[in-house]
Amino acid sequence: KLYLESEGFNWKSVDIFLNKLYYDYRNLIRRIEMKIVVKENYSEMSKYAADIIAELVRNKPDCVIGFATGGTPIGTYKELIRMHKEEGLDFSGVRSFNLDEYLGVGIDLSKPYSLDQSYARFMHEELFSHINIKKENIRIPDGLSKNPEEFCKSYEEEIKKTGGIDLQILGIGGDGHWAFNEPGSSFTSRTRIEALAKQTLDDNYEAFYKNAGVSREQMPHYAITMGIGTILEAKSAIMLANGSKKADIVAQALEGPVTTDVTASAIQLYKGDVTVILDKGAAAGLKKL
Ligand code: GLP
Repeated sequence: KLYLESEGFNWKSVDIFLNKLYYDYRNLIRRIEMKIVVKENYSEMSKYAADIIAELVRNKPDCVIGFATGGTPIGTYKELIRMHKEEGLDFSGVRSFNLDEYLGVGIDLSKPYSLDQSYARFMHEELFSHINIKKENIRIPDGLSKNPEEFCKSYEEEIKKTGGIDLQILGIGGDGHWAFNEPGSSFTSRTRIEALAKQTLDDNYEAFYKNAGVSREQMPHYAITMGIGTILEAKSAIMLANGSKKADIVAQALEGPVTTDVTASAIQLYKGDVTVILDKGAAAGLKKL
């Protein structure tokens, strides 16, 4: 070491070189594992996502799909409904698990829509009632469960019993959450009860509860959510985001550090086949496209 230093050898430059090498290597690996597709607009993005789902359903009619809620996948679900109605895409063997549900609500079809903002209701309205998936094959966390903690355990067991989720559909929350895994959630977390962060309450109030005439105070402040550990076990995943409002958080999740501050950054740890599908707006913050 002394000899090299006496010859003017600069350890700092070696350090910089190794760091760069590590950085490039990490990005190379990431690129191989994570496919990022940028589509012109929301409709193209939704069609691309629906095609991936439809291909799985055709190749494996008894596949297990993890469904997501939120405004983002609605276009994808509309396209799946179209494929079912016009092309005969058959969901009769498909089994499904939803990512999450607000605590304290659940499907009650006797109530008018405006009084029930459950994700169960959302799935029924936006997809399930328009395709031929069998009711007994649908699983959504039960927000009305008398014993939600026990329920969470049984949800995990049921997923395992099916052999695992073949394709998980994901969105991304404004604070970077996956499902309802708010900032600070462990990457090994399993299905559990989670307190909603302020930004999520604000976002979801604006998007859903406000229109339904439910006050910000009255909307549920807790949810049952699959954990990040549960989600990462899916055999493959697609993550969707659209609109420039999501550009910054999408860039943080895909190119920033892997951190529980942005739980969707766990996507960089996915071992399965993962495709991120964005419209131009949501991709605007990415440096490496
Ligand atoms: C909710 C859901 C998430 C979803 C997020 C984004 O919080 N729990 O699963 O990804 O909203 O919603 P949107 O697609 O409306 O932006």
